[in-house]
Amino acid sequence: MPTALDKLIYQTTQKMRSAWYSAHYAAAMRSAPSIEGPPEGPLPSWRTVYDDLNDLLERDWQNVREGLYPAPLPADTGPITSARKSFAFFRDLSAVNRRRQAGDGQEVFNPDLRGRYPRYFLQNFHYQSGGYLTDESAALYDHQVEVLFVGGADAMRRQCLGALTAFLQTTAVRKANHLDIACGTGRFLAMLKDARPRLRVTGTDLSQPYLRETQRNLADWSRTGLVHANAEELPFADASYDTLSCVFLFHELPQKARLRAAAEMARVLKPGGRLFFLDSMQIGDRPDYDALLRRFPVAFHEPYYHDFITSDLISMFEESGLRILRTQREFFAKLLVAEKPGRLTTD
Ligand SMILES: C[S@@+](CC[C@H](N)C(=O)[O-])C[C@H]1O[C@@H](n2cnc3c(N)ncnc32)[C@H](O)[C@@H]1O
Repeated sequence: MPTALDKLIYQTTQKMRSAWYSAHYAAAMRSAPSIEGPPEGPLPSWRTVYDDLNDLLERDWQNVREGLYPAPLPADTGPITSARKSFAFFRDLSAVNRRRQAGDGQEVFNPDLRGRYPRYFLQNFHYQSGGYLTDESAALYDHQVEVLFVGGADAMRRQCLGALTAFLQTTAVRKANHLDIACGTGRFLAMLKDARPRLRVTGTDLSQPYLRETQRNLADWSRTGLVHANAEELPFADASYDTLSCVFLFHELPQKARLRAAAEMARVLKPGGRLFFLDSMQIGDRPDYDALLRRFPVAFHEPYYHDFITSDLISMFEESGLRILRTQREFFAKLLVAEKPGRLTTD
């Protein structure tokens, strides 16, 4: 059981972490070109955003207290690696701003890659250098995401993790098989292995450089597998996984790809198995954030974001054959837990 001192350490280190990424955000925004277009309506104040982040961190600590996962380490990396990442972030910023100014999210598009990747994937999401196609982009990604969420990205992922580990505690399945779809750099999988070291996990992603980064991040763990695959055509047998996770993928997919990926999730999940899905919150989830959500895809290259935040996720999953058990907004994200009807058989 964590002590009062553990809680104090958690709160202090999370505040320092948020201050570190917030300082990056503020410095990056000062150098960013001004962007024409929405907001239509007032943006939330920083006070509102940080209060919301604090509420998320309260729930995060509650999950730690309940033993759903261990408390996060006081720092993501040592001071030298943190300084290196910070330097790389700022060094890359002028290229990001150049693309932002020109509205150029197509720099990585190369017609020779068309047969190997869907067209939508070959873009500079967030105007990031290299899109999802380079080792440099993979090395910088986690830092960039934390900057975007002023240090709240991991805590949002941990809400998805807590829902998953709570389910694993209740299931009769002894050798559960877990699949993380679009695992990126393996951030979620590393948290999951930290919480459940014996769990068999597979990560899949369309980006080879991001999979290489995942491999490095999971190097300390056994019972891990990585597969290069498109979420729209998963190379796994029907009913082969007890649990699935998918974090921050769907807002980067066009509608048809979302429908295909949802159908694949329903197909590879065992009856009684569950999907733990986390992605951007949507329009109407918290109306005072709506103008900010409308502005986001303009300031950051996110061509499918508006369609995603106005889409009916519940109908999409239900039409794919899954039953929604729970939805919950978590800071700028939303967690959905869905079940494939049936009974999970013991193994
Ligand atoms: C915003 S990142 C999210 C990564 C990670 N899940 C996280 O928590 O940060 C989106 C990821 O989806 C991957 N991706 C995009 N389209 C994909 C597709 N059709 N199939 C599989 N992965 C895809 C990208 O390569 C990238 O790693």
